[in-house]
Amino acid sequence: MSSAHHSAVTECGASRSTRRALTARRTSTCGKKKHTERLAMADSVDPESLQKIKMRKMASRGSNPALELLSSNQAKNSQLTFKDVKYSVEERVEFTGNVQDFVSRSIAKKPIKTILHGITGSVNSGEVLAIMGPSGAGKTCLIDLLTLESKNGDSVGEVRLNGETMNKDIFTKFCATVPQQDKHWAFLTCRETVAFAADLYLDIPKEEKTARVDAVLATMGLTGCADTKVGNAFFSGLSGGQKRRLSLAIALLSNPLVLFLDEPTSGLDAAAAASIMKFLKDLAVAANIAIVCTIHQPSSAVYNGFDRVMLLSKGRIAFLGAAAEALPYFREIGHQMPPNTNPAEFMLDLVNAEFTDPESVDEVLAEWAKKEAKSDVDATRREPVVGLPTDYVHCTNCARQVATLVRRHGKLTIRDPTLYIGRMVMFINACVFFSIIYIKARDRKQTQVLARLWLTLWHIGVPASLGVVAVHTYNEEYYAIKREVKNGMLSPVSYLLANFVIQVPLIILMAMCALSISLYGIANYYGDNYFQFMLVYAINLWVYERVAQLLSVSFANPLLGMLVFLQVWFASFLFNGVLVAEDDVVWPFRVGFSILPLKWCFRSLLYLEYSDTTFSGAEIDASDSRGFTCGADNILQCYGRTGKQVLDSLGDNYQSISSANNVGKDVGIMLAIGAVFMLMHIYLLTKKTKAVKLVKSPQP
Ligand SMILES: Nc1ncnc2c1ncn2[C@@H]1O[C@H](COP(=O)(O)OP(=O)(O)OP(=O)(O)O)[C@@H](O)[C@H]1O
Ligand SMILES: [Mg+2]
Repeated sequence: MSSAHHSAVTECGASRSTRRALTARRTSTCGKKKHTERLAMADSVDPESLQKIKMRKMASRGSNPALELLSSNQAKNSQLTFKDVKYSVEERVEFTGNVQDFVSRSIAKKPIKTILHGITGSVNSGEVLAIMGPSGAGKTCLIDLLTLESKNGDSVGEVRLNGETMNKDIFTKFCATVPQQDKHWAFLTCRETVAFAADLYLDIPKEEKTARVDAVLATMGLTGCADTKVGNAFFSGLSGGQKRRLSLAIALLSNPLVLFLDEPTSGLDAAAAASIMKFLKDLAVAANIAIVCTIHQPSSAVYNGFDRVMLLSKGRIAFLGAAAEALPYFREIGHQMPPNTNPAEFMLDLVNAEFTDPESVDEVLAEWAKKEAKSDVDATRREPVVGLPTDYVHCTNCARQVATLVRRHGKLTIRDPTLYIGRMVMFINACVFFSIIYIKARDRKQTQVLARLWLTLWHIGVPASLGVVAVHTYNEEYYAIKREVKNGMLSPVSYLLANFVIQVPLIILMAMCALSISLYGIANYYGDNYFQFMLVYAINLWVYERVAQLLSVSFANPLLGMLVFLQVWFASFLFNGVLVAEDDVVWPFRVGFSILPLKWCFRSLLYLEYSDTTFSGAEIDASDSRGFTCGADNILQCYGRTGKQVLDSLGDNYQSISSANNVGKDVGIMLAIGAVFMLMHIYLLTKKTKAVKLVKSPQP
């Protein structure tokens, strides 16, 4: 955030001038004078020393230096309110064994199931609101609704941030989410992950950015593992707790007014859970953020860290208020907590309809409904906060985002073997294997004409089929990008551009891996046409890459995408022009010859390989109707002396092969096919990453 912004924000909040805001003003980089001084300092002192000086100054004031550094970025009050929000879905039609009944129920209007029955609440900056409830109470549905998560069903009610109705723009600019599953870029270190996020979020000078990254790492206790790779299921890296803190670190960089966390403590041990919750509480105060989280079975220590608690059951509120007021309230309505009990467990047991008498749960819910009916329990506890900061924007410079993403994905490509490097190695292995098996085809002679044709076909078909692994990797990438787009870190266009920039040279490299050793090193292919051959080949690989990318976003489950990819590949291979004659295939299947790339690629590659060469075993013979002869011993395998004669002979058998130069046309067709897949991918990715589900205003 710029210093100008800080001062603007601090001025804005001046009427409510809290001590916090003043501290922020003191420690912030607001004042022009200070800013100039700082820049002058930055010129002479390296960023690390600058950061250390800042930290020492803060430490000498007896505060948590890292947290204060963050607090200096946030001096604006915020208030999230939600009023009477309801969520309902159409009941799923379950198959009960009777097909007719199933079909008729599927066609008929389905009954509506209400999941949230009008939830009202609010959270102010500096507070943590914990949404608790037994399994199935509606916690995830409520947080999804507040975070505009796109899902089926109808959501109605009022969600406002600082008095303004929550929409996609407001959410992206002022809110951040930390999902339950920590999905990071496995091959980046902790520091790199935070640094790239800072590059994407913040438009501030480099040394300030470095200071911010260091502060966030220190705040989250990640300095010790800053240079450890994140890791994934296949190689170990950060621990579960560290990954959770890394998710938080990234969310903090965006300076959100409201931070949403779904089950931030699940999967962590009691000590890690308590420390995360304590941190959230401190953070809410220090950075003046409103925090909303769902939580499952908190320990007493964790429970005591909450400011406000919302207890849900069966989609209704059983209690909402200060954590300390919960037990007195339940005592008042006749439920005294037994001694030595975890208060959270006691409350959850009280409203767990699955294990407690449902009537007793209904009574607890009815008591709260009565209380709510009497007075607006959550009438905003402080005076309403109105107006959002106008200059509170993330970095939206597309060129900078693209440059950062190219650096990030370039690094990932080198470190993560699953997308490109692994395939390059596989290409070399598989293609060298084919060339060794077809070793006799090295000789350009009549008996090897078909063997060379098949060798070419294996080289096209098998590497293209390995695009199937890309479906899986791109699917994971898609979900990571989707989260980043939602949190306002980048735009889908920047990602698509960066992806294209990285993809093109890598595909050319993959093509070189597939062809260079096996065809040009071993199989004695025609070297003069190497570059044209490699280019046509690379375009074919690119088309399959686009198919893989399209399928990676078309299906939530990557396995389905992989299956469809294989189907597309099977069809392409079948329609390559050699296995079945185009004229013999019935409509509409015949269209497969035209809209799939393999036939076009194969035709051009054969032309480039055969046309300028000669084959032994045949002699030019002007008296022969075909212009060549092979002698009486070799009638069946006699294709021609020149490459063009060979291509014509093959063309007699295989309709798609020709001695005419169609390379330009074939390349054009393949590029057009790839472009169609690319446009479909762009459309789907943009649509899906930007999709939100707005909470509709209730009908008057
Ligand atoms: N699309 C849907 N169709 C039908 N029922 C749904 C749908 N989505 C959620 N539900 C139901 O709504 C209820 C609330 O679900 P939700 O996931 O919010 O529970 P939760 O409180 O988060 O539980 P947990 O603690 O187990 O995560 C559950 O009974 C669930 O089965
Ligand atoms: Mg849940």
